[in-house]
Order: sequence, then structure tokens, then C-alpha cells
Amino acid sequence: MLGTDTLLVTDDAGVLVVTINRPKALNALNQAVIAGLQHVLDEAAEAARAGRVRALVLTGAGEKAFVAGADIAAMADMSVGTAREFARSGHAVGDALASLPIPTIAAVNGFALGGGCELALACDFIYAAENAKFGQPEVKLGVIPGFGGTQRLARRVGLARAIELCLTGDTIDATEATRIGLANRVLPAAELLPATIATARKIAEMGPVAVAEAKRVLYAGAGLPLSQANALEVEAFAGLFDTADQKEGMAAFLGKRKPEFKGQ
Ligand code: CAA
Repeated sequence: MLGTDTLLVTDDAGVLVVTINRPKALNALNQAVIAGLQHVLDEAAEAARAGRVRALVLTGAGEKAFVAGADIAAMADMSVGTAREFARSGHAVGDALASLPIPTIAAVNGFALGGGCELALACDFIYAAENAKFGQPEVKLGVIPGFGGTQRLARRVGLARAIELCLTGDTIDATEATRIGLANRVLPAAELLPATIATARKIAEMGPVAVAEAKRVLYAGAGLPLSQANALEVEAFAGLFDTADQKEGMAAFLGKRKPEFKGQ
């Protein structure tokens, strides 16, 4: 899979590591980065369906930033129409991450502000380096989050904490982000990427159809009344009994051996 000059893509034995690579601008998201991400995620979806890719890790180049936000220089002169298209393109990337049938983990290695926090939130979960800083500072620029921050942040950490962050523009550190449930783990900077890849690899060894179904049902159910969400789970659970992975997983357990999942 090919990257671009602002995106580095490596395939670590089925774990795709996507690095946003504009360290001089703290990896700020301009149209080129967003278009590149969309392209890489479209290719990742195809590779995941074919069983060539089992997990995706998203991170930023350099030691200072994951992504310091949407590119302010690129946004400064935008019209209402251009801003709408820009926001839609950011949302499309978020939706592409959430709808991938494989786990996506953000390895937040520094500033994750504005569009950077939103991009991390679009991943299934976040691991943070000790120097990570999270925030939605858009109000300081006279705008609001445009890549999902008002919605995904509220769903991740609750309405009151999301409103406080979006209205004050305050930045929080990795420990606080973990305390409020924005990040799942804090790690020393040098251990962040290896630990994130190790978790991605651990999930990659599970039954791929089950992983995809668990992710689909968790997201789909989050916006539904509990009874409807539970009905989704029942159907997904039952449907998995028509897969080779279910037969293999249970036979392997009973035969006291390691399963060999085929993703079917
Ligand atoms: N857009 C464009 N360039 C940015 C940027 C951004 N979001 N963030 C940092 N940069 C650039 C700086 O302009 C600077 O470039 P030059 O060296 O050419 O001057 C370079 O990155 C390094 O940044 P600083 O010198 O500012 O570094 P610092 O350590 O002093 O401060 C920082 C770091 C606190 C993250 C600061 O850069 C900052 O506040 N950045 C902006 C954060 C922000 O407001 N993000 C939200 C953007 S709006 C948005 O994202 C909307 C949306 O939801 C879609």
C-alpha cells in the first residue's frame, strides 16, 4: 500500500501503521493530508475485506505532535461553501475509520488538538504518550470543531465534559484524558508505538469476522434504544454460527490447541 509525501504507510505483518507526516506544521491537516488519508483508508478497507490487513494504527511524525489540528493557514480564507466541503471531507475520513471492519487505534504522541483530537476520536480507542495533550481549542479561533468533535467527544466522555472542553478550549494532559475515558492508556513516549502495535496484533489474532461484528454492533448500538441495540447483538451473535471461524474457534478450544482463523 502506497503512502503520499504527507502520509507514511507501513505494513507491519498485517498491522497497517499510518503516520501523518508534516512535522514542521505539527502534522496539521490540510486538504492534501485529508485526501491522502481517505485514499489510504479506502485501500485499507479493500485489503481488510481480502484478509490482507487485520488492524490499523494511526500516529503522527516527530516527537511533538499527533496532529495539532486542521491547518489554520489553509482555513483562514475559506468561504462558507469551502468550509462545508472541508468539514465533510474530515467527517468522511472519520466515518471511513469507524466503518473499517478491523480495529483502529490512535497512538497519540503529543498534541492532539482540534481536528487532531477528532481524528483520534474517530479511531476505536486511543493510547497516549505521557507528553500527549488533548483539546478542542476551536472557539479560540472563532469556530467550533468541524470533524466530529462536538459529537464523538460527547459520546466518548459524556456531554458535560465535552461541553466544558469545547467551550473553554482548554487542553488536558494524558493522565486527565485517561481519567475521563478519552484515552485508554498512558505510556512512556518510547513505548507508545510498540505497545499500540502489540495490542493491534493481539486483536489481529482473534476471529476476524467476530472482531468486525463486535465493532459494527458496538457502534450501531450506541445510537439506539437498549432493546433495539440488544436485538442487534442477538442477530450478530447468531449469525456468527454460520462462519468457519466459529467452528474453528470452538473446536480449537475443545481440542486444546490454538485456533487458525480464516476470516470466513
Ligand atoms: N495549523 C497550521 N499550522 C500549525 C498548526 C495548525 N493547526 N499548529 C501548529 N502549526 C504550525 C505553526 O504555525 C508553526 O509553524 P512555523 O514554524 O512555520 O511558524 C509550527 O506548526 C510549530 O508550531 P508552534 O511554533 O506554534 O509550536 P508551539 O510549541 O509554540 O505550540 C501548539 C504548539 C500549542 C500546538 C500551537 O502550535 C497551537 O496552538 N497550534 C494550533 C492548535 C489549534 O488551534 N488547533 C485547532 C485548529 S482548528 C480545527 O482543527 C478545526 C476543526 O475541528 C476541523
